[in-house]
Amino acid sequence: MYPALQQELDTYERRTPKSREAHERAAQRVPLGVGSNYRFYPPYPLFVRDGQGSRIHDLDGNEYLDHNLCYGALFAGHCHPAVMKAVSGRLETGTLFGMPHGMELELADEICARFPVEMVRFGNSGSEITMHSLRLARSVTGRSKVIKMEGGYHGGHDAVSVSVKPKEGQFGNAEHPTPVVSSLGVLTGTSDATLIAPFNDLPAVERLFEEHPGEVAALIVEPIMMNIAFCMPDEGYLRGLRQITRRHGAMFIMDEVKTGGKLAYGGACEYFQVQPDIVCLGKSIGGGFSLAAFAASREVMDVIAKQKMFHAGTYNTNPVVMAAGLTTFREVLTRDAFDHVSKLNQKLVCGYQDTVKKVGLIAYADGAGANGALMFYPHRVRNYRDWYHVDEDIWTHYWFAMVNRGILAQPYWWDEQWTISVQHTEKDIDEHLQVFEEIAPALAAAQEERMTVGPLGTHAS
Ligand SMILES: Cc1ncc(COP(=O)(O)O)c(C=O)c1O
Repeated sequence: MYPALQQELDTYERRTPKSREAHERAAQRVPLGVGSNYRFYPPYPLFVRDGQGSRIHDLDGNEYLDHNLCYGALFAGHCHPAVMKAVSGRLETGTLFGMPHGMELELADEICARFPVEMVRFGNSGSEITMHSLRLARSVTGRSKVIKMEGGYHGGHDAVSVSVKPKEGQFGNAEHPTPVVSSLGVLTGTSDATLIAPFNDLPAVERLFEEHPGEVAALIVEPIMMNIAFCMPDEGYLRGLRQITRRHGAMFIMDEVKTGGKLAYGGACEYFQVQPDIVCLGKSIGGGFSLAAFAASREVMDVIAKQKMFHAGTYNTNPVVMAAGLTTFREVLTRDAFDHVSKLNQKLVCGYQDTVKKVGLIAYADGAGANGALMFYPHRVRNYRDWYHVDEDIWTHYWFAMVNRGILAQPYWWDEQWTISVQHTEKDIDEHLQVFEEIAPALAAAQEERMTVGPLGTHAS
């Protein structure tokens, strides 16, 4: 902790006493005082009062330009008028039946029209969807092992709770990472079936297949790794994964929970021109409601159609969420909306780059579609081991300094990224950049001071 960072933390505490009080009370009954571990950060998280469009207010009435947008689940922005209208219409006619109604087909049609898939099953969260996708791959191939990337996040279930944020001293060789279980309570029989590869390294994946011939059911990957901030695949990498998995008879699962409703009209499949076997969708496809889906070819989904593989859920395809999803696909996730948001994102990335250069920060900004991040690292992050050395203190300084000036630049934690919604405007982006320009010299000064003391950042947690 250095003085300029401490000063921003003091300002945060001065501006947000009601959040502190609410957190202290919540922690008496709710572990960590929050509903999901990611939402806790020191000294305490902001508690939200309301949100509308591109803005939210905390309990003390402070306003923030919101680029957290529920960890990227709100490409629609807060209370999108079309989604609100569709949902309120549904609230009068029954919210849950546990029976089919017809909107399943309509929404499946929308998904099949823009992703290279033929059949869809719906759920409520990304975790559920990646869990069932892995079961689907195991059902189809009759194999048990799966490959995931070091640093990749696909939800909280056991098979993917491996090497999410492994630490030095445990994670082993960079080209052949040691699998590290990321929570107590994970069933070792399940996590043992998960093999770990470094992102952007095709030979490492090939090696894993060769070491486990005929055993790997699936490779699951985020097309852009957005759980290490913002890490683009190298040119040809995803197509390379497609070829390797096909050659070894394994399913290629693209986890588009983050990219599906934010990168492009047809998600990462369209953006990178790649055809996976199974696509996972979640977050922004629900327009602010808890909708998720997995989709594949008719041939792959046949194991469900023939009742060989079980997939179920009481809340699946409830009419409220389906109405939200249909309107989101038809009126929010339009080609025009993607154009609008991509232009704003380009402006934001370029603006960050200009200021970084002007003040001499060792950092860079990158982005695509609705997402991007400022990374305190000297060159492009290509995998988890690069990201591991991002300077956390400077990042924390950046985040609180922006928050104290009304910009929620992204969710807390340096493994996250900003989201821009369809309701953000050019004026919002100007305001964001103006605040960054204001705080950047202090970041550069702190960075320089730290460089004279020691190497780039430490990795404490
Ligand atoms: C790529 C990816 N997959 C899956 C998930 C899990 O989704 P959920 O939080 O809806 O369970 C997340 C959540 O952040 C994610 O980023």
